[in-house]
Amino acid sequence: MTISFIGHGYVGLVTAAVFADLGNTVWVVGRTKEKIERLKKGDPLIYEPGLDELLKRNLAAGRLKFTLDYKEGIAASQVVFIAVGTPSKTSGEADLSQVFAAAEEIGKSLVGYKVVVTKSTVPPGTGRKVSEIVNRHKPEGSSFAIASCPEFLREGTGLSDTLHPDRVVIGTNSDRARDILVELHKSIDGKQVLCNVETAELIKYASNSMLATKISFANAIGFLAEKVGADVERVLEGVGLDKRIGRSFLYPGVGYGGSCFPKDVKALIAIAGEFGYDFKLLKSVHEVNMEARNNFVDKITRHFKSVKGKTIAVLGLAFKPDTDDMREAPSIDIVNSLLDKGASIRVFDPIAMEKAKAKLPHGIVFAKDPYDAANGADAVAIVTEWNEFRQIDLVRLAKGMKHLVLFDGRNIYEPTRLRELGFMYYGVGRM
Ligand SMILES: NC(=O)c1ccc[n+]([C@@H]2O[C@H](COP(=O)([O-])OP(=O)(O)OC[C@H]3O[C@@H](n4cnc5c(N)ncnc54)[C@H](O)[C@@H]3O)[C@@H](O)[C@H]2O)c1
Repeated sequence: MTISFIGHGYVGLVTAAVFADLGNTVWVVGRTKEKIERLKKGDPLIYEPGLDELLKRNLAAGRLKFTLDYKEGIAASQVVFIAVGTPSKTSGEADLSQVFAAAEEIGKSLVGYKVVVTKSTVPPGTGRKVSEIVNRHKPEGSSFAIASCPEFLREGTGLSDTLHPDRVVIGTNSDRARDILVELHKSIDGKQVLCNVETAELIKYASNSMLATKISFANAIGFLAEKVGADVERVLEGVGLDKRIGRSFLYPGVGYGGSCFPKDVKALIAIAGEFGYDFKLLKSVHEVNMEARNNFVDKITRHFKSVKGKTIAVLGLAFKPDTDDMREAPSIDIVNSLLDKGASIRVFDPIAMEKAKAKLPHGIVFAKDPYDAANGADAVAIVTEWNEFRQIDLVRLAKGMKHLVLFDGRNIYEPTRLRELGFMYYGVGRM
């Protein structure tokens, strides 16, 4: 099948490359000349494990094509996916301007019959609005159906998530569009959930909000565990062994970040409000998430009484491991807060250093590795649970530090081991 993607970010490019690898011809439409030129040469522009190779393989095979021209990208396509960004407005609502701009361009470029699919995360009712826009701009004689296939991939495991998802949601009111989308997804594992457009749109927000709720629940239990002298890791192990609950996403830490959970939780609160429902549960999920970041900084501040003049080494900047994505990363608030309180900051992240430079204030030191970051530091703060931090030579790390204090924002170390090595150890939700 020939298909096209509007947008080549974490979702657009990964999904396009996977569909190309399955034998489809895939056009990717972008809006920046320089980026399209780099993509044509095989530079994915983002870090996603395995994407580099997949991109090069499918470019060489002629199955993956990049263009700035909507007409060229859409002409031969049966299906057009909208995979542009839907960031938060300051009100918390989803900003749909990129989606609507893409819909207008698709409308103007329509020939024959196309299925226009929103893959971006969009509030229920957006499909209808996209339909109106495409309809307003489409040339006579062309036709289309609207569908919603929300994306569930996780950055860092995007390729295998796309190929082997838990489910494929296909939301459309058109039988013809549904048949085309079922056919397109036939090589993708995962149970197909066939539904109407609004249902598909809401499934995505409900899923992300449920996962965010689990994280905030784990954090709330962590706050309590510290007060009552319990070990949150054992508590959640005990809880998660109940098959009705499960262990996944029940991990305390410095809270969720990234381009999805914070914005989708806020957007679902706004959507609910628009329809007259006060989504108190999700408001608390968001509050607890902010508390998790603040508590971590408070813990560091409490230890030193004041962090003024102290040097803190922050290890991990990306919002989670195996990505360079810095959007809404907890590290940003944590670093800013420590700087405001007068600390000096040295940071290291295995992949996100370049992107972090654009997001973090001037005056912090970008170190070349964890040991360099910890050199001369009064404390180390683990903010992202990169696997390589689990493997750190703690004896070597300790040698360079001024004081042996470690704040483990992700509970990646065994407290007893750290204490044996002479560290003062602070985890989350445990002694
Ligand atoms: N990143 C994730 O892990 C993830 C997972 C599931 C769903 N989503 C959702 O998917 C959507 C995209 O997320 P992302 O992380 O890929 O965003 P992103 O910011 O990485 O990519 C968006 C892309 O859209 C392009 N774009 C915007 N307007 C355009 C236009 N008019 N024409 C052509 N290109 C245009 C941008 O240049 C960029 O390449 C969002 O709604 C997001 O919530 C993201």
